[in-house]
Amino acid sequence: MLSWDEYTEDLPKPQPEPTLAPEPELQVRAADTAVPAAATEVQATGAQVNSAQIDKANKANKESTAEKPTVLAAAQAAVKALDPAPGLEELEMGAARVMVDDKAMINCRADLNQLVPFKYDWAWQKYLDGCANHWMPQEVNMTADVALWKSNEGLTEDERRIVMRSLGYFSTADSLVANNLVLAIYRLITNPECRQYILRQAFEEAIHTHAYQYCIESLGMDEGEVFNMYRELPSVANKAAWSLKHTKALGDPTFTTGTEENDRELLRNLIAFYVVTEGIFFYCGFSQILSMGRRNKMTGVAEQFQYILRDESMHLNFGIDVINQIKLENPQLWTAEFQQEVAQMILEGTELEIQYARDSMPRGVLGMNAATMEEYLHFIANRRLAQLGLPEQFAGAQNPFPWMSEIMDLRKEKNFFETRVIEYQTGGALSWE
Ligand SMILES: [Fe+2]
Ligand SMILES: [Fe+2]
Repeated sequence: MLSWDEYTEDLPKPQPEPTLAPEPELQVRAADTAVPAAATEVQATGAQVNSAQIDKANKANKESTAEKPTVLAAAQAAVKALDPAPGLEELEMGAARVMVDDKAMINCRADLNQLVPFKYDWAWQKYLDGCANHWMPQEVNMTADVALWKSNEGLTEDERRIVMRSLGYFSTADSLVANNLVLAIYRLITNPECRQYILRQAFEEAIHTHAYQYCIESLGMDEGEVFNMYRELPSVANKAAWSLKHTKALGDPTFTTGTEENDRELLRNLIAFYVVTEGIFFYCGFSQILSMGRRNKMTGVAEQFQYILRDESMHLNFGIDVINQIKLENPQLWTAEFQQEVAQMILEGTELEIQYARDSMPRGVLGMNAATMEEYLHFIANRRLAQLGLPEQFAGAQNPFPWMSEIMDLRKEKNFFETRVIEYQTGGALSWE
């Protein structure tokens, strides 16, 4: 370690202050004339300089200053000439104040920069609830998980497979969701309170990806293997590919709503991401990891998944509300044919999740197996269909994992996790004292 005492010992002894020589004339001149710096330095060092050359440089500099206004002058002139009309012309309401009835979920021309008055109080409430549930992955203690994962007897091969598969799917799934939010749907949802929630959700998706990365790093996994699983392992790749297929049309920057066909395409995307990806594709992995946590194994990973599940259940509910609101405001979109298509999308998602369950659980493990998971996914699919006002497809499907509902149905802002302080404390609060 450096010691300043040792360091100063080697310093040369202080020398007496030199007598200040008079400033060279040109250094003073440099401050209030336009002599180029290079010319000034040459003059100041006493080198031989032709005074005609300096005069020439001064003249050229003065001319260029006269021709080009300074940046400040240009900025002042631009502000003086500013015409606000072109910037606001897209807003059809002109200078009129926003009324609640002007607002709409899609194809709205009212000013989207004015958050209030609220039309959809539920969206604002979800934004507040999301903020109240803020958490960060580093708050979770991973020590026991690291010891268990690195010990040879800690977990069975089937349990290790579940952990690997879950982190393999989720490490990229939340990036797919986040990209769809900000690159596809954000600009098409024309309601500021919903956009406010979408921005919050986008940050939560970043936290989820961070949480998976944190687990992968803590456990010392092969990062390339885990992050690339969505391109290598069929049961994981099929789910990712299904989601990606549904973001393509809206990802095109020239895509706009306003026709029946395109408005329906937006609904298709919302259903694919909120209802199927976040509402079905997450549930096998969540229930497997939470079941592991209930058995006191990989409790840090399980705690991360609990926080994520709490966020995801809110994302799902927000998405369902948005979809149903669009249906309400645009009933022409919700044709019998489209309802049939949506039901098929939900069943496709359910089938893909059942395939994932079979691949990740070739045998019974953690009190569950592929058959009970299939039953659970039928129960989930029925709920998703009912939430969109569609008939259930799996008569009599029951929930074999009631503890999952208990976790999700707990009041979010209450003592959901015993391991954590209830209120989130910000670490960097400003103090003016
Ligand atoms: Fe997420
Ligand atoms: Fe989500």
